[in-house]
Amino acid sequence: MERKSDILQSLGIDYPIIQAPMLGATTPAMVAAVSNAGGLGSLPVGGLSPDKTLELIQKTKELTNKPFAVNLFAHSIGAVDEVQVARMQEFMLQLAAKYNLPLGRQDFEPFQFYTYKEQIDILVKERIPIVSFTFGILNDESIAALQASGSILIGTATCAKEAVLLQERGIDMIAAQGIEAGGHRGSFLLEEPLPQIALMALLPQLADSVQLPIIAAGAIYNRATMRAAFALGAQAVQVGTAFLASHESATIAAHKAALSTAADTDSMLTRAFSGRWARGLRNTFAEELVRAGISIPDYPIQNSITAKFRALAQQQNNKELTNLWAGQAAHKAEVKSTKEIFEGLVKDWKGINHEYEKENF
Ligand SMILES: Cc1cc2nc3c(=O)[nH]c(=O)nc-3n(C[C@H](O)[C@H](O)[C@H](O)COP(=O)(O)O)c2cc1C
Repeated sequence: MERKSDILQSLGIDYPIIQAPMLGATTPAMVAAVSNAGGLGSLPVGGLSPDKTLELIQKTKELTNKPFAVNLFAHSIGAVDEVQVARMQEFMLQLAAKYNLPLGRQDFEPFQFYTYKEQIDILVKERIPIVSFTFGILNDESIAALQASGSILIGTATCAKEAVLLQERGIDMIAAQGIEAGGHRGSFLLEEPLPQIALMALLPQLADSVQLPIIAAGAIYNRATMRAAFALGAQAVQVGTAFLASHESATIAAHKAALSTAADTDSMLTRAFSGRWARGLRNTFAEELVRAGISIPDYPIQNSITAKFRALAQQQNNKELTNLWAGQAAHKAEVKSTKEIFEGLVKDWKGINHEYEKENF
């Protein structure tokens, strides 16, 4: 309990419940609803332009004066393989024709990638109290600049080795992302096989490996799952998919509807949409890419190649042709306001806290 209240104080929140950053789904309204209710909202800005980053931060600040986190992507960008890219673009055109999406050659604009390095100054100026990141580790200069301006840094780890590296670089807290989690894997030891460690195995190993506070992420949505995370060594939980069907979520209606009927077996890991492993619901797009067997460019190149295709599918509310990120407990995503979903989690957490108090006295 000691460590739990420490984390509340460090993050400036009332409950150890964090709304996971979810690029493409999380809106300023979602972030503010959670922060206003005493949790920690997280605003994802990974890969966005500096202008968009500032706009979203300012919008969120208009909706809450409570602390919220801003989330960055810390990946590096590899060389573009022109042949591989041309083959993938050709395939996307064929797929679009097959499914009647009006995709044209002109829709593959020259690549323009933004990195976190272009966002750090904005975060420093805006005095963001908590900065979380995934896909890697920020460089030393960025870490120093953010910490000097008072930011607490949360890095994502999917195995013990990543957590140790984050600790060695002076990061303040670890978000432990189990293989159950929806969306992109935060894994960054790219020369090694993808870690596929479930949260139940990951949490105690991280608790043994690092001294930092640990935040558990992956298929958490109620009293039992939060209790398990705390029992296994987490000081806070980070909840994503459970907020995906909320009124404040920007995902398309067909995605929200698909969550409620999803079976546990509908979940898959795929590189098809972005070039980076991510968990979502199985659909036609992912299956078509597997069937085609063509090599998929790395993130963020593939992400950029498929961007317009996915946007067109989303305009048609077509769940078969765009990414349906979701964790393994997808069907627990309820169609309610973010505030109601968060209050349900708080009620569950209070129950757990009450049990602990009884045990301690
Ligand atoms: C739609 C979606 C988008 C996501 N985008 C991000 C992101 O931008 N940054 C990040 O650190 N994690 C991202 N994640 C991962 C979440 O932060 C978190 O690890 C995950 O949602 C926890 O598992 P759960 O979805 O089962 O609750 C995303 C997850 C989802 C479902």
